[in-house]
Amino acid sequence: MICLGLESTAHTFGAGIVDEKCSVLANEKSAFTTEKGGIKPSEAFDHHWQNAPMVVKSAFEKSGLTMKDIDVVAFSQGPGLGPCLRTSAVIARTLSLKHKKPLAGVNHAVAHIEIAKKLCHAKDPLIVYTSGGNTQILCLEAKRYRVLGETLDIGVGNLLDSFGRSLGMGFPAGPRIDGMYFESGNYIELPYSVKGMDLQFTGLLTSAEKKIGTVPEKDLSYSLMHTAFCMIAEVTERALAFTGKKEALLTGGVACSKALQKVLGEMCSARKAKLLVCPAQYAVDNAAMIAWTGLIAFRAGKTTKISESKVIQRFRPDSVEIAWS
Ligand code: FE2
Repeated sequence: MICLGLESTAHTFGAGIVDEKCSVLANEKSAFTTEKGGIKPSEAFDHHWQNAPMVVKSAFEKSGLTMKDIDVVAFSQGPGLGPCLRTSAVIARTLSLKHKKPLAGVNHAVAHIEIAKKLCHAKDPLIVYTSGGNTQILCLEAKRYRVLGETLDIGVGNLLDSFGRSLGMGFPAGPRIDGMYFESGNYIELPYSVKGMDLQFTGLLTSAEKKIGTVPEKDLSYSLMHTAFCMIAEVTERALAFTGKKEALLTGGVACSKALQKVLGEMCSARKAKLLVCPAQYAVDNAAMIAWTGLIAFRAGKTTKISESKVIQRFRPDSVEIAWS
């Protein structure tokens, strides 16, 4: 069984092909970046639309396959930016209809979780999903990924990118400021905002932005990251205690942060839990994760009719029945 997956929720357009063992036969992508300033949905859409044919063609060339070999076409149905989401939805519907292949609409957050679980050989993990648009702590219970705690405003990746932008960096800034965490240990007090099991990052961002120019940049970057990552570690630790789970699985683009891995790793080892980290190329937005999740959904008998394939900008992972669990 082979699945073609398409991803275009935000800055990345990707085309991936996987088989039923989760061997990745192709994982091609083109990412929208800026020299200065953040991501504008209309510009990201133009980027995706211009690059999509080349990326899909490249995935077929890389795998040596054609549409005849594909059993199911998957696409990320949401959550994400409307114009961006529609790019892969339109291409997936077109390929599905033209080649008479079933279609599978995939929740992008569920895809981040499923590829991480598979590649890290996780058994029954608590999931720490950290990305630009999302920050959620989840666990699988009664066929749904239940959200135990989450951000009430922006995703932690958005916090890092926005702060980096205020320092004059382009998009994405997160990976560039991550290294600054290890260049400083001078903590500057910033707002720490955990509400029950939920998190808030905008007050932290505003407060740190107001301090730019008054304190060393690397100290401020360290302090912003340390505050945010300790907030995530606090909620994760409480969720581990509550669920009794022994594995925490870190996925999503911010899983690549060495600083976040350090903070979560220290907390996990203190309570004798194992921290599993999704490999970087599959933790960031990619289409192999969409293909893999589309494949396991299809294998469990779940497909998406064209009439139900509308993109969903606010598509929560806990709204999806995990039929394959
Ligand atoms: Fe993502």
